[in-house]
Amino acid sequence: MQLTLADLGPSQRHAWLTPLIVPRPIALVSTLSALGVGNLAPFSFFAMGGQSPQSIAFCPVSDRDGNPKDTLRNVLETGEFVINVVSRSMIERVNQASAPYPADVDEFDAAGFTRMPSSVVKPPRVAESLAQLECKVFQIVPHGSGPQQSTWVIGEVLVLHVDDGLIAEDGLPDTTRLHPAARLGRQEWAYVTAQNMLILPRPVVVPSDLRSDVPSDLPSNKPAPRRTLGS
Ligand SMILES: Cc1cc2nc3c(=O)[nH]c(=O)nc-3n(C[C@H](O)[C@H](O)[C@H](O)COP(=O)(O)O)c2cc1C
Repeated sequence: MQLTLADLGPSQRHAWLTPLIVPRPIALVSTLSALGVGNLAPFSFFAMGGQSPQSIAFCPVSDRDGNPKDTLRNVLETGEFVINVVSRSMIERVNQASAPYPADVDEFDAAGFTRMPSSVVKPPRVAESLAQLECKVFQIVPHGSGPQQSTWVIGEVLVLHVDDGLIAEDGLPDTTRLHPAARLGRQEWAYVTAQNMLILPRPVVVPSDLRSDVPSDLPSNKPAPRRTLGS
């Protein structure tokens, strides 16, 4: 089967691609309007990139009348946002935060989340989230125009907060304790546990049985010692 995207309407494109580009992590984005009203909204069109600096991007889509999401209005007005990482225990409230509340409703209260002050940006963090990223806008890039048009918000991560309970023996966050949630297609969600993870060390060199020109004195790609996974 082959589909040409230009032959499909926006909703059909979404319906065909979202079951395939999976799992998509969810950014629960907190922002403040210029008047100081708090806003929370989930975005699964979301990715991190780069390292120096560390960038992060999400993509609010305008509605069927071409109106921008409150989140986009807020980042355009203030240049700041917080990405709150979503765990399994949060998803019902995260889903609630996606309801189309009017711009003057504070969605922390509407969805039942607790505000926590940020260090270097004004939008508050979500206390129930085990990891939060304070970000400033780097660039806002519209793609398309009119109804259901996309806008990429690219941010730079300034400060990272991680719950102490997430830190593993090696001093880094343990994904298995985070139980991060993801979106799939339709109304499907997923989350990561130790049972559905696997560990695969990066190869050091191409295995010599696949290449005839690898010198025999190069280090071999011995697997790293297996880390014990938490609950
Ligand atoms: C898990 C999940 C992921 C979502 N991802 C996106 C997304 O990537 N882009 C988007 O425009 N809307 C997305 N939505 C819908 C928005 O969250 C929803 O339109 C929300 O009301 C926007 O809020 P705002 O107007 O306060 O910014 C998602 C909804 C859910 C439940």
